[in-house]
Amino acid sequence: MPASAFARYLESQHQKDLLRLITCGSVDDGKSTLLGRLLHDTGSVPEDIVDAARRDSLRFGTDGTNLDFALLIDGLQSEREQGITIDVAYRYFDTPRRKFVLADTPGHEQYTRNMATGASGADLAILLLDASRGLQPQTRRHAFIARLLGIRQLVVAVNKMDLVDWRQDAYDRLVADCREAFESLGVPSLAFVPVSARNGDFIVNRGAAAWYRGRTLLEHLEAADTAPDAGTELRLPVQYVSRPDASFRGYAGTISSGRIAVGDAVIALPSGARSSVREILTPDGARATAGPGESVTVTLADQVDVGRGQVLAHVDAPPTVARGVEADVVWMTDAPLAAGQGFEFKFAHRYVAGTVEALVHRVDVHDYSRSASESLRVNDIGRVRVLLDEPVALDAYDEQRVTGSFVIIDRVTLATVGAGLVRSTSTGRLVATPTAIGRAQRAAQKRQQPFVLWFTGLSGAGKSTIANALEQALFRRGLHTYLLDGDRVRQGLNRDLGFGELDRRENLRRIGELARTLADAGLVTIVACISPLAADRERARETIGADDFLEVHVHASLEACESRDPKGHYRRARAGTLKGFTGIDAPYEAPTAPDIRVDTTDVDVEGAVARILAHLERAGRIGASADTWEI
Ligand code: ADX
Repeated sequence: MPASAFARYLESQHQKDLLRLITCGSVDDGKSTLLGRLLHDTGSVPEDIVDAARRDSLRFGTDGTNLDFALLIDGLQSEREQGITIDVAYRYFDTPRRKFVLADTPGHEQYTRNMATGASGADLAILLLDASRGLQPQTRRHAFIARLLGIRQLVVAVNKMDLVDWRQDAYDRLVADCREAFESLGVPSLAFVPVSARNGDFIVNRGAAAWYRGRTLLEHLEAADTAPDAGTELRLPVQYVSRPDASFRGYAGTISSGRIAVGDAVIALPSGARSSVREILTPDGARATAGPGESVTVTLADQVDVGRGQVLAHVDAPPTVARGVEADVVWMTDAPLAAGQGFEFKFAHRYVAGTVEALVHRVDVHDYSRSASESLRVNDIGRVRVLLDEPVALDAYDEQRVTGSFVIIDRVTLATVGAGLVRSTSTGRLVATPTAIGRAQRAAQKRQQPFVLWFTGLSGAGKSTIANALEQALFRRGLHTYLLDGDRVRQGLNRDLGFGELDRRENLRRIGELARTLADAGLVTIVACISPLAADRERARETIGADDFLEVHVHASLEACESRDPKGHYRRARAGTLKGFTGIDAPYEAPTAPDIRVDTTDVDVEGAVARILAHLERAGRIGASADTWEI
């Protein structure tokens, strides 16, 4: 991290004494009652509202002569809703230790709306369960969506413990059920607390069960981490350009993350205009700096053109400019989403038309499995690929909540039909001017026909060794070659990528593009990387062109690879210290019809090379004999 970025990060840390949370659960689970309890027992509700709720409780309450805490929330709700329509009601409360802001939204709309409005920057989610009903399908859904939104801390409040007589075994069973159900979500922090919202047990005060010695709900909230897990770099989406007269031009918007200071070098994207910050104006006057959540009008030192919808960022930490977007989408309307449909996409303050090019998968929110699907129906969650008509300044949602999310709008009805979280971006297909010298000329000058040999196989199968020997053999025959080895590419071009499914896909996408470029340049190109998934190899074939793509399966059984274990990876994978290792706890899909297959348990390196050369000769890709070059 550059020093200035680090300083900005530290500064934002100092500002943090606020925990942002959401609650997931239905009224039936006791959500309103729980919120009412939390606000009441922390002394956050004005007396007159408590009095009014007390009077209402006598008439409509569900709890005899006691205060019905749900009515307390309803009272706050109607007060806040007068005159304005709100989807999200923010409730503030505090304790001597910290401040809390809770985004409370009605019905199941809460999640999708939160996403749509960018209100999803929650640090923590309380998942509410009804102890008398056990783990319900909707709880799995809530947990999934909370993780989808990037929330790292979940506190499961097992409510209505009084209805199961505070039986410890009932609580323990629910805890075990949840742990099992959420396992594959990889929740970084998962905590549990037995409560009775109605009676106030273990919410703020301690409660009825002597066996429970853990934290109260409030203690969990006080102990939770407020370190931002997203968004420390400056993003200021421009909401409007203020031009009261010809001499003044200000860019107004809310800082979605990071800090801005007078003198900062900034860039507007996607336009690319650069300047430095001259003034930061707020309703309270000019300021030297401003931070997240503040609405500001910024003037710049230079006369540059920055329109509505551009994003201002620091020159050294800009967002990506992209047309291709891979995103997780929550579909919110009855008409299903299918590939090929066009929409309006709203990113921060930018509206751009685009097309959903493909559905990558649909997620079953009950068992979290993914499967191919032709469409997404209302409330479905799935991953899609979008191609925008124009480039947009974007971030991955994991890094930036506001500039990493978008809303999908029906072009005709203008209704919001979905919300999306950006997972990765690409430049998309831009219409490029063809170069004057083409592929054919480059190849002819080298007197060869370029093609790509794509080696796939398990780690330790022998890909690199054979690829190396093959390249030497081709080189000796006078061919112009290049070898792209997975391990080496990962040290340079792809050093920002890991081994998760998405990163592997991106790794292979880049290698595919690079291999195509090398073949364009006229080189016989050899790629050696695990490339475990058939779909990713298929995409490489498309990128390179099927005629110039030869798939070589370097096969050895898992046992053989494991016994060779040249890098000690298998040992570490088996010991559990290396996670997601291909063949052990990550999949390898062997090619069903490779162009060439070599089994390294029955041929040695020379044999494998000879077999590949023979295939290339037979196929007319290389001449039978050629010049010999010293190596
Ligand atoms: S690929 O899956 O994305 O095609 P690639 O061939 O680039 O993989 O990189 C694989 C190399 O990375 C292996 O040879 C091994 O040395 C190393 N490696 C480190 N972690 C893993 C992992 N979890 N799975 C597979 N290979 C890994």
